[in-house]
Amino acid sequence: MKFFVDTADIAEIRDLAATGLLDGVTTNPSLIHKSGRKFLEVIEEICGVVDGPVSAEVVALDHETMMKEAAVLRKIAPNVCIKVPLTIDGLKTCKALTDDGVMVNVTLCFSANQALLAAKAGASFISPFVGRHDDNGFDGMQLIEDIRLIYDNYAFDTEILVASVRHPIHVLDSAKIGADVMTAPPAVIKALFNHVLTDKGIAGFMSDWAKTGQSIL
Ligand code: G3P
Repeated sequence: MKFFVDTADIAEIRDLAATGLLDGVTTNPSLIHKSGRKFLEVIEEICGVVDGPVSAEVVALDHETMMKEAAVLRKIAPNVCIKVPLTIDGLKTCKALTDDGVMVNVTLCFSANQALLAAKAGASFISPFVGRHDDNGFDGMQLIEDIRLIYDNYAFDTEILVASVRHPIHVLDSAKIGADVMTAPPAVIKALFNHVLTDKGIAGFMSDWAKTGQSIL
């Protein structure tokens, strides 16, 4: 499963990229607002740090203006992935862009039928929001299972990009279901490294090593 980080914070992106575990980045208008940076500048900077897909979202609601915004965004770098909302105009834009060889991430997916439409529109990625689904009393991971089943039934190439990931169990369940990608905030990715028994084990080994009086270097 590929790991994308869901942030526009360049320091966090650099930090995670240094682990070698980062396959891409997703942003959205709220994350750009949180960064306090200029949208085009921050996307260009992220594309310089990460080779994989960097999602940059259009903010227009109509197809024609979405296409104009996408034309600006795709010029930034070859790894820019245009993010469009799951609406009729969004999917028209998705079809036009993917037919032209541009990567597209279809966002704000909350049903398996919506995911089916995105795949038929040629989406490179579909982003079902599991956390927001759970928040509203639905089963986010059931949605991922349903999309996996449908995409496998018809051998769609669209990658399932699990978004709105809130905790490590979402990551574990995504991997068990066979999602292609998950995108999570930096804190959730960093939490994946942690285990209390790892910390306890290191403390024990360090304490016994000190008693030997030896050093490796
Ligand atoms: O980038 C889209 C998605 O990951 C947002 O997550 O936590 O705002 O629901 P969240």
